[in-house]
This record gives sequence, structure tokens and C-alpha cells, in this order.
Amino acid sequence: MKVDVLLGLQWGDEGKGKIVDVLTPNYEVIARFQGGPNAGHTLEFNNIKHVLHTIPSGIFHKDKINVIGNGVVLDPVIFKKEIEEIRKLRAEKPEINEGELYISRKAHLILPSHRMLDAASEAAKGKNKIGSTLRGIGPTYMDKTGRNGLRVGDIESPEFRQRYEFLKQKHVGLLSHFDFEYNLDEIEKEWFEGVEVMKQFHIVDSEFLINKKIRENASVLAEGAQGTLLDIDFGSYPFVTSSSTVCAGACIGLGVAPNKIGEVLGIFKAYCTRVGSGPFPTELNESTGELLRKNGSEFGATTGRPRRCGWLDLVALKYSIMLNGVTQLIMTKADVLNAFETIRVAVAYNVKYKNADGSINVVETQHFPFDIELEIEPVYKDFKGWRCDTSTIASEKDFPIELSQYIQFIENETGVPISIVSLGPNRTSTVFR
Ligand code: GDP
Ligand code: IMO
Ligand code: MG
Repeated sequence: MKVDVLLGLQWGDEGKGKIVDVLTPNYEVIARFQGGPNAGHTLEFNNIKHVLHTIPSGIFHKDKINVIGNGVVLDPVIFKKEIEEIRKLRAEKPEINEGELYISRKAHLILPSHRMLDAASEAAKGKNKIGSTLRGIGPTYMDKTGRNGLRVGDIESPEFRQRYEFLKQKHVGLLSHFDFEYNLDEIEKEWFEGVEVMKQFHIVDSEFLINKKIRENASVLAEGAQGTLLDIDFGSYPFVTSSSTVCAGACIGLGVAPNKIGEVLGIFKAYCTRVGSGPFPTELNESTGELLRKNGSEFGATTGRPRRCGWLDLVALKYSIMLNGVTQLIMTKADVLNAFETIRVAVAYNVKYKNADGSINVVETQHFPFDIELEIEPVYKDFKGWRCDTSTIASEKDFPIELSQYIQFIENETGVPISIVSLGPNRTSTVFR
């Protein structure tokens, strides 16, 4: 068997959590491969709305193996809260299932001081801030590549406390260069409590576990976090996250060889959102954007921040499909477009270049640009909206004609089939094609 990978093709929040939860019955193992508690993956089922941050979205299915892979960065404080929330939910509703949880020894730990460094560094950037979720993601990956990090496996060492203090003191030194006040005492206590909670789960060399499962013909689904346009290499740097969110990240973040990757399920919203700073060519800063935000409840699952909203961007989508080798597309939140008379899709960019003599050149392109300062005017194709309630639709034959045309256009442009259309946040509002 091969590992299927489900990942976001836009700027995150495409509905990965919902779809992983829906697909989990088809898999034996669900594994997170990168990112950390900057992720907020929302699941809705049985009148429950639940947001996961580090724990894979297969956790509410009996007997499924959920793996936090080596590529993930893990904060024991947030992990403890997540476990407590799941336990509370199960105490109230014992009918809810719970899978098994395994944590990679090689996953890196987010220290309280990483979070302080994130906050101090963002504050110092002023108007150039990334718009980070402030969960300490960047500083933790910096310590990983700088070869200073603490890993989950270290908690088994008798020298763990000393190693923690050593890294913390390095951070305290760095923080002294910022005009930033902080207090670590309270959060540090919670952090060590969180470490004890982690010990209640299987701490393993997860690359062996996953490869053994592959050999035994078990099906594995790798769950991406963030989105392709937030990738550290291919996103609009520096307004990106600090991990490889693309498909290749699943190989690195789980210890799976590239020839073991099977289907690549690329998920996108029927429009676009972005939270945080950085370029967003199709952004709508007016009433249409407001309506998308309102109808799509576009507020961050982790930070509650309003998400920036705009039309679907096919230039960006094709770029993401290319980078990931997407074999199937999943379109979510099509129901959010129900109210719109006209739906627009960007099919190219008009990019303004300034010549040395001050004159302006406008070039039409399908190339996702390197320069984040470039002025981009999207070239739109307009579609007639379907203007009907989609909440009772259970199969493709009931799609309004305009929705079918919208889907067909995207498939023709990208050359990739849309295999799932999501028409609501609940598990049940999912149409397979
Ligand atoms: P993720 O980070 O990719 O898992 O996505 P988030 O959970 O952060 O954000 C997606 C939001 O949209 C959540 O509130 C979901 O409950 C909701 N959602 C997912 N799919 C659909 C859909 O098809 N329609 C609507 N209206 N909401 C959806
Ligand atoms: P999920 O998995 C949307 C954004 C932040 C910021 C940038 C860097 O729920 O789709 P970081 O915390 O990594 O320093 O933030 O990336 N960002 C996300 N946006 N969804 C996410 O995750 C995100 N994780 C990070 O808003 O712009
Ligand atoms: Mg999210």
C-alpha cells in the first residue's frame, strides 16, 4: 500500500480537518507530518464542533492509529489542553469514539520561551509583521535546523531538565535584545505538566511504525497543515510558515520514501481566504469580501482573527497543483457562494513592471511571481451564480447546473478531477463524485 496525502492548496483553512474526518473510515493510519498548533482543524459531527491543533483529525474514529510525525512541532501546554478537551467531550458523550495516539520521538518541542521569541520578534517587525499565530512555530523550526532543538524523545532522558534549562537560557539571552516583557513561571509549570501527559501516549520511532504499516498493506493518510501558498520555499516569502507544507513535506515529516506516495488529494475552497499578512491578488476589500467572510464564517479557528477573503485564483491553484502532483481535487465551501449572483475566477494576472525610465509595462502572465511587491491585477472570468440552497443536496445529480459548470471549468483548466464537493461544515454535507 502507499501513503495518500491530503493537503491545502491555498493559504490554509481549506477544510482539511473536516475532509480528513470524513475520509478516515477508509484508512487505518492518519498522520500529521508538519506544522504545529498554528493549525486549527475544525470537525463537525453529531452536533459537536471541535477544533484540533496538533492531534490528527482521525482521532474520533475507533481503532484508528493517529500519528504525530517527526516533522511536527509540539507544544506540551496545547497538547495537554487538547487531550483534556477530548476527554471532557467523551465524558459527556460516551458514544463518541476515540482512536489511538502515537507521537514521534523525533518531533520537536515548542518551549514557552519559543513562544516569547515569536511574540518579541513579531512586535519588533512593526508593520512588516508576518501575522504569525504566535505559537512559537518559527523559533522552534529555527532551533531544529540550527541543531539546538529539544525533541519528544528527550523527555525520556534523565538529563531532560538540564537540556531544557540550557535551551531556555539561550532564549533568555536572545530575548534580552528585545524591548519585550515576559514571565515564564506560570506557563513553564503547565509545560512540564503537559510533558507528563505526553508520557501517557505511545512515544515511538514513528518512521518505523508507518513503514511497517505500509509493508503490512495498511492504508495511511497523511494530513497536511497550513497550505501550499504558506510553504517555506514556495509561498510568498517571508509571509509564510516555517515548514514544508507541500507533498514532499510528507516524505520528510513521516520518513516515507517518495515512491511510497499514492494519491495526492489537494483541497481548496471555492473561493480564497488568507489570515495574516502578505500578497493576496484576488482579495476583496469591499462588501463582496465582507459577504464571503460573513457567509463562510471566515474567522480563524486558532486565533479568531477575521480572514481576508477573495475570489478563487486559478493561477495560484495551478501552481499548487504543479508543486504537489495533485491527483484528485476536493472543493469545499461551495455553499458559501450560494448567495452570489456573479462568481468570479482569476484566470491570469496582469503584472505591472516599472521600467528604468519610470514608464510602466503591463504583462499578462500565468506565472506565480517571486516578487511580493509587484502590483497584480487579476484577469477574471465571470460565472453566473446558482442562487439556491444547497443544504439538502446529497448527490451530484442534484447540483444546480451553474455549480456543475463551475466545477467543469476548474477541472478543464487544471486537468485534475474534483472527486469531492463539500457543501457544509458537517461530516454529512459531503458529495462524492
Ligand atoms: P482547516 O484548517 O483546513 O482544517 O480548516 P478550518 O477548520 O480552519 O476552517 C474551515 C472552516 O470551514 C471550519 O469552520 C469548517 O467547519 C468549515 N467548513 C469546512 N467545510 C465546509 C463547507 O463545505 N461549507 C461550509 N460552509 N463550511 C465548511
Ligand atoms: P491550518 O492548518 C491559515 C499563517 C499565519 C501567518 C503565517 C505564519 O489551520 O490551515 P506561523 O504561526 O506559522 O508563524 O504563521 O501563516 N498560518 C495559517 N493560516 N491556516 C493555518 O493553519 C495557518 N498556520 C499559519 O496566519 O500568516
Ligand atoms: Mg485552520
